[in-house]
Amino acid sequence: RPRILSGMQPTSDSLHLGNYLGALTSWVALQDDYDALYTVVDLHALTVGPDPALLRERTRRTAAQYLAAGVDPARSLLFVQSHVPEHTQLAWVLSCLTGFGEASRMTQFKDKSARMGAEAANVGLFTYPVLMAADILLYDAALVPVGEDQRQHLELTRDLAQRVNARFGHTFVVPDAHIVRETAKIFDLQEPTSKMSKSASTPTGLVELLDDPKVVAKRIRSAVTDAEREIRFDREAKPGVSNLLTIHSALSGRTVAELEEHFAGQGYGDLKKELADVVVGFLEPFQAKVRGYLDDPAQLDAVLAEGAERARAIAGATVDRVYDRIGLLPAR
Ligand code: TYM
Repeated sequence: RPRILSGMQPTSDSLHLGNYLGALTSWVALQDDYDALYTVVDLHALTVGPDPALLRERTRRTAAQYLAAGVDPARSLLFVQSHVPEHTQLAWVLSCLTGFGEASRMTQFKDKSARMGAEAANVGLFTYPVLMAADILLYDAALVPVGEDQRQHLELTRDLAQRVNARFGHTFVVPDAHIVRETAKIFDLQEPTSKMSKSASTPTGLVELLDDPKVVAKRIRSAVTDAEREIRFDREAKPGVSNLLTIHSALSGRTVAELEEHFAGQGYGDLKKELADVVVGFLEPFQAKVRGYLDDPAQLDAVLAEGAERARAIAGATVDRVYDRIGLLPAR
């Protein structure tokens, strides 16, 4: 079976609705047909200088949310990136094959470093996409399910794979991004032209999966909508309403066309009220599952240990192959 890999950063106590609808639901859907590896990318999280105790806690919480969403460790490998040292080994090799200008063109780096101020940004933030390429290429992943904001990083990963293959002979599978058009970008509830984000959302524009459902319902009921009254999907003219319809459709499983018909003649208040119910109906059982996993950290750690062991077997073979291709003298 072809392989897939994806990961999320443990930079917050909770994943948000963008992470869930943009990526996590695809992870769960794809694990039937693919040999899947899902990782909590704690090394990537170091780029924002987290508190050590908090990072450890958030790493477990992120894994618990993968499980609660339906990632099934009987079918998919679930592991913590830093438990597999090959990620940093391959990242170094790839960083020596990445142009400085090429890395400088990554828009996520440009945005983040601009937000922090150039002096505050660290070198890890700059080489972040190279580590991400290593995550993917280590496992010969053919497909990488992510949201739209990762597209450019996937392009870099493909370029690096092709570069290595051209220069040293076939070494890597060239991966494709798997981006679901409808949910590729979930927007901030208060600012529906910018993406929902852990670091850049407005305080009330973000829906975190572990937020109090009452708070979430209130945020949805006070989401920004648009001029006129009609409930119809139109990304350009009606970004607020379109975002709400997208979220409703993804969680309820009803098409946007069905929802437009269902809400015909109703007002924005009706849409928001019903959507609040849909979201809360999803969050309550989700949060109960997360609590269940967090109540048994030993069991959670056992799942992660098993995942890491199996991931290391694959990753170790890749690093051996790469080291050999590029001319590093084998240790004996
Ligand atoms: P991260 O942790 O920022 O986000 C995790 C996933 O959520 C998606 N996403 C969204 N999708 C739709 N709408 C949104 N508003 C939204 N916000 C976030 C992201 O696209 C991502 O799929 N660099 C990655 C982590 C990573 C990775 C990897 C991913 C490291 N190594 C290897 C895939 C393969 C990141 O920062 O994601």
